Amino acid sequence: MQDIRIELTQNPTHLPEDESTLGFGKRFSDHMFVMDYTVEKGWFDPRIVPYAPISLYPSTMCFHYGQTTFEGLKAYRTEKNEILLFRPQQNFKRLNISDDRLCIPKLDEEFCLEALKKLIQIDEKFVPHSKGTSLYIRPFIIATEPQLGANSSTQYKFIIITSPSGVYYSSGLNPVKIYVEDNYVRAVRGGMGMAKTGGNYAVSLKSQVNAHNNDYSQVLWLDGVERKYIEEVGAMNIFFVIGDEVVTPEINGSILDGITRKSMVELLKKEGKKVSERRISIQEVEDAYENGELKEVFGTGTAAVISPVGVLKYKDKVMTINDNKIGEISKHLYDTLTGIQRGEIEDKFGWTVKV
Ligand code: PLP
Ligand code: COI
Repeated sequence: MQDIRIELTQNPTHLPEDESTLGFGKRFSDHMFVMDYTVEKGWFDPRIVPYAPISLYPSTMCFHYGQTTFEGLKAYRTEKNEILLFRPQQNFKRLNISDDRLCIPKLDEEFCLEALKKLIQIDEKFVPHSKGTSLYIRPFIIATEPQLGANSSTQYKFIIITSPSGVYYSSGLNPVKIYVEDNYVRAVRGGMGMAKTGGNYAVSLKSQVNAHNNDYSQVLWLDGVERKYIEEVGAMNIFFVIGDEVVTPEINGSILDGITRKSMVELLKKEGKKVSERRISIQEVEDAYENGELKEVFGTGTAAVISPVGVLKYKDKVMTINDNKIGEISKHLYDTLTGIQRGEIEDKFGWTVKV
């Protein structure tokens, strides 16, 4: 493994005393991990340096053609003052899958995890303490060749920044209101929907702004061809409890293979619940609502954790789910997931990794 060069900051900062003021992704720890790529050298000069602006030419390719990928994961402080990561190997594996789709050279996943641990050890004081807080970690790659041809870049930068954060939705565990988009689409099979790349978030902004203006917090996407089948929400995967079945759309190439989603499917299966990863139409959801069979709806994601959905709007129909209260299964999953992440519940799955 390559040695990581370390340059510590001369201007150390601190977490605020009142961690409830953190917000999400607004403050950053003192250091970042950086590594560069050229065709000749491969990935080289891994370093941990002070968090600071980076200098790029205006012609740099990432500004023009969207050749970028990213990941999102969290580090949690336990009551015993240990720091745990949740399934970080899965994030670096998925980063390489996104990279493959966008012609970005592969990273050594094991090395990335070692680099991340080192970065967190150096910035350990930025891992917040209070419940609901964590150190949000954002690894990302940008194409850095300074030229305007619309090709795959020959130069890249891989950076990891970390952000002491509170909850993603200010409503916390109170159910969110979601608007089903029936006009715009997010992705199609064969496109980039399965990759974590900026374009998938840019494409969602117009609908997101629309939803916000109508007092909805997120958009639920339908498939890009028929606009009939459920895909996912802007920043989370989606689950429906219909009768005694927990259903989530199958991984089909156009949605993100969420790590929280995967973990919750494993957990529910282990507990003997009926869980299906299958195609589900918005019509089926409406029918289940009419029949009184739609018990719960919730989203899963690193930032969103488990987010109950209280209101789902499709065209003119507004469906209020479980009286706009968090349901039994959503609450159980939230408690179990956050319990494992914070080291309060035994991790029988081997999901957590000590820093
Ligand atoms: N879907 C999208 C579009 C996302 O941005 C995220 C967040 O990362 C998820 C799903 C959930 O994925 P994960 O559970 O791996 O965070
Ligand atoms: C995450 O959950 O890590 C994400 O990447 C979602 C992001 C849009 C905040």
